[in-house]
Amino acid sequence: MRRLPPVLIEDGCSRELVSLIRTILAACKEISFRVGQGALSGVLGSTLDENIQGETQKKLDVLSNQLLKDILLESGYVKAIASEEEDYTVAGNPDADFIVAFDPLDGSSNTDINSLVGTIFSIMQAPKDSDPADPAIFMQPGHKQVAAGYVLYGPSTTLALSTGKGTRIFTLDKTHGSFLLTEDFAKIPEDTKEFAINASNQRHWQPAMKNYIQDLLAGDTGPRGKNFNMRWIAAMVGDVHRVLCRGGLFTYPADTKNPEKPYKLRLMYEANPMAMLVEQAGGLAHTGEERIMDIQPNDIHQRVAVILGSKNEVEACLAYHK
Ligand code: AHG
Ligand code: MN
Ligand code: MN
Ligand code: MN
Repeated sequence: MRRLPPVLIEDGCSRELVSLIRTILAACKEISFRVGQGALSGVLGSTLDENIQGETQKKLDVLSNQLLKDILLESGYVKAIASEEEDYTVAGNPDADFIVAFDPLDGSSNTDINSLVGTIFSIMQAPKDSDPADPAIFMQPGHKQVAAGYVLYGPSTTLALSTGKGTRIFTLDKTHGSFLLTEDFAKIPEDTKEFAINASNQRHWQPAMKNYIQDLLAGDTGPRGKNFNMRWIAAMVGDVHRVLCRGGLFTYPADTKNPEKPYKLRLMYEANPMAMLVEQAGGLAHTGEERIMDIQPNDIHQRVAVILGSKNEVEACLAYHK
């Protein structure tokens, strides 16, 4: 089976980019190990702190963030980093070519119940002669990402990665620590009978999403003329991985629960990298109003509505938003 570095070199990635990806994966292997140790490593449960978005941080959120941050800043490959668990961007090597935005641990409410969690990352080019301390260097739309990926810490540790030439899946061989290519070009089926949404928010959704889900639930006697199945992992990495493996529609729509926070998922380190992986596998990723990767960001922690997955099903959902 083919190892990750030669695959990336064949794709024409620069040595710096390959080294940067390997650096991120070195931290992910350590996170994978710690997550796998569970209660034995004393890292389950919460801290007494909150992140800038008002979420209570889990011990594993903080640990995963520290591992990624330290290894990236020490590597010299990044000009700056942005993380879900850092209030502000952090400056790195002024001469480096890349910036990285990451969600160190996605689905952290799953840590204490031994369920799926993962790490999501987005790599962009740093503008030439830019100031590493200036957060404006991150304000680039998702279509400018040079690479995006996630590592899913599940029964096996899997990496989904795109450098703009399709989406590939690698599996960590824990016997010698290499990510081996296990699916060369993931292809999301265009049609699906599966969807993922946190239905407990139903009463807070906007009419378009209410009507769309109602029609899915109506089954083969309703307007869609087929029966749909539902899944919700509460970790975007897990739900998107399922979509990459067998198709489906995943959405976290706007809701009116908290009028100041109509959206849940973060653009820079959740929506954008997942959008690149999904589109590179033949799917679509949209907010209901625009393509996710065309959004011009204005804040590293900004949030967006997300509708992604099987092409025809995303289009069916978007038709309700017109
Ligand atoms: P994080 O753990 O990084 O804060 O992200 C959690 C996100 C996402 O992964 C998941 O799809 C969603 O929150 C789950 O939301 P609910 O708690 O509403 O199910
Ligand atoms: Mn969080
Ligand atoms: Mn997340
Ligand atoms: Mn997170």
